[in-house]
Amino acid sequence: MTIKIGIIGAGRIGRLHANTLTTRVPSAKLLAIADIFADAAKSAAADYGIPDYCADPAELLNSDDIDAIVICSSTDTHTRFIIEAARAGKQVFCEKPIAFDLAEIDAALAAVAEQGVQLQIGFNRRFDSNHSRLKRAIVDGEIGEAHTLTIISRDPSPPPLDYIKVSGGLMMDMMIHDFDMCRFLLGEVEEVYAIGDVKVDPAIGEAGDIDTAKVMLRFENGVIGTIENSRQAVYGYDQRVEVFGSKGAATTGNWHPNAVTISDARSVRRDLPLHFFIERYMDSYVAEMIAFVEAITTGGAVPVVGKDGRAPVLMAMAGMSSMRENRPVKLSEVETG
Ligand SMILES: NC(=O)c1ccc[n+]([C@@H]2O[C@H](COP(=O)([O-])OP(=O)(O)OC[C@H]3O[C@@H](n4cnc5c(N)ncnc54)[C@H](O)[C@@H]3O)[C@@H](O)[C@H]2O)c1
Repeated sequence: MTIKIGIIGAGRIGRLHANTLTTRVPSAKLLAIADIFADAAKSAAADYGIPDYCADPAELLNSDDIDAIVICSSTDTHTRFIIEAARAGKQVFCEKPIAFDLAEIDAALAAVAEQGVQLQIGFNRRFDSNHSRLKRAIVDGEIGEAHTLTIISRDPSPPPLDYIKVSGGLMMDMMIHDFDMCRFLLGEVEEVYAIGDVKVDPAIGEAGDIDTAKVMLRFENGVIGTIENSRQAVYGYDQRVEVFGSKGAATTGNWHPNAVTISDARSVRRDLPLHFFIERYMDSYVAEMIAFVEAITTGGAVPVVGKDGRAPVLMAMAGMSSMRENRPVKLSEVETG
């Protein structure tokens, strides 16, 4: 069985998924790509051999030929397309975050439930082999009872200001992956305390965002966590996670283009880590898309569902109010408004 797919959004991540779907997922056929900038859709179609492109996503949503929609447009369009796709009876894959607003997310999840379609959220890092091994170390008790979680997640350079302005801010856009990693590894978080600042580029501050943040978290199971984000690590993408427990620790480091260490009289050194998310997490993007297509083909459940998309948005909201109010904030406070 082949799943016929349409992509909405031909930007950075839309092109990445187009590449994956046309080259790495045998049971998927990418039929069309839409982008309000027709030239973006046209160039993606040419680059990845997609048969059709258009400027109006409605053409994909109304097409009887398409079984599933992959939403890769800017975040502020996600819930509208989820609802329209669900009502058209399409299976849906949507990039993170679903939206910045809980009521809007709930409306989208309700439409998905009412129509009986599936929705997978693009938390690709769950599919990374390092992270799944970490999770196994926790679940199998290799490190005993988990005490602390440390996540360091730094980008090599900030995205364009135009992107930042519609991104929802660092916590919604970037740390959202780390919030998801917290839940993936250790379950629900109860409380967060966040400090953030502008250290990299004053223009980011002028756009109303921060570029550097540290967040402390208390999990429902008592684990204490920290997340550190920076929009700019001059040595490249810095992605490290450690879970420390009563019987030991499980730690993942950065991935490098090679395993060579050069030693001389002055230093011991190696090449910089893989530069950014496209290089570092390519295998995980492929794995998440294979999982999506497989679930639809077999009628199984998709592995990252709507509530997994909602929960990190709640965490980001709690983090943002913690920063504003300079105090620890319980997720329950944000949930109840
Ligand atoms: N999972 C990940 O690792 C990951 C990485 C990057 C981005 N993302 C997410 O993917 C989404 C897109 O990010 P990006 O980096 O590709 O952004 P981008 O700006 O490069 O691309 C977005 C594209 O969507 C198009 N678009 C906007 N509104 C549209 C509409 N109404 N109809 C059709 N097309 C529309 C834009 O023209 C643009 O080409 C964001 O939600 C972002 O958070 C996820």
